Amino acid sequence: MADDELLLADESGVRWITVNRPAKLNALNRALVARLGEAIAAAGADGAVRAVVVTGAGEKAFVAGADIAEFVGLGAAEARAMARAGQAVFDAIAGLPKPVIAAVNGFALGGGCELALACHMRVAATNARFGQPEAKLGLIPGYGGTQRLARLVGQGRALELLLTGGTVDAATALAWGLANRVVEPGELRAAAQKLADETGAVSPLAAARCLEAVRIGLDLPLGRGEEVEAALFGLCAASEDMREGTAAFLEKRAPRFTGR
Ligand code: COA
Repeated sequence: MADDELLLADESGVRWITVNRPAKLNALNRALVARLGEAIAAAGADGAVRAVVVTGAGEKAFVAGADIAEFVGLGAAEARAMARAGQAVFDAIAGLPKPVIAAVNGFALGGGCELALACHMRVAATNARFGQPEAKLGLIPGYGGTQRLARLVGQGRALELLLTGGTVDAATALAWGLANRVVEPGELRAAAQKLADETGAVSPLAAARCLEAVRIGLDLPLGRGEEVEAALFGLCAASEDMREGTAAFLEKRAPRFTGR
């Protein structure tokens, strides 16, 4: 993979990760998926990074899918291993203890839709289109799409996308809860940065525990999820950030969170 196919840049504590293969509509080959995993791990380990934005280069596509050229001659065992490797990277995105926002600037198809789904929030440009067209290729999504899409938008809407291979526009994505907000293409970067900045103003420790509580709780019955919530609430109460946040409120000043 060419070195410049994944671009990294920092903007006021926000790590921008840009998939940069515009000539192929940012299709994800396996090397790019692995690089994405490394970039996510690095963002997680870097104390100066408060939030992450994932986007695609160019004006046409976020990511138009896994690289279909790599599917030629793929056997069953190799395909399963490919799916497991991609799922591990996308699970790492979903499990990052810092907010991850997808800035969806056009086609988010197949693996691109799955990448957007693995992010914690999605800001879409008006030209965004979401879809899981794999069945048109005789495949199903392999990077978590069948699981995350149904959890986010419900079974009926997920199956509509999976079984027709069709796409939904940004307005429908917003109505379905697939997009958090929709903005004009020229405003996408600023809107994603603003959302990332807003998440960066709360306690990083509390943000990590919110992400953990929601992620774990979605896989649990309500009562078990509440047990997880109470345990994490307890951990927050023992933190310096909780002492600082409550003191700052009572002293009518801005908090200075340390994430401890
Ligand atoms: N994998 C590999 N290459 C891809 C790709 C993918 N998922 N999506 C687009 N490309 C390539 C095209 O092959 C083309 O390459 P070329 O110029 O060397 O021929 C280039 O990107 C531009 O795409 P093109 O199809 O010419 O653009 P378009 O505007 O006519 O159509 C799409 C855009 C998104 C509708 C169309 O590219 C498409 O259907 N892509 C595949 C989507 C898909 O099935 N994704 C799921 C994969 S599991």
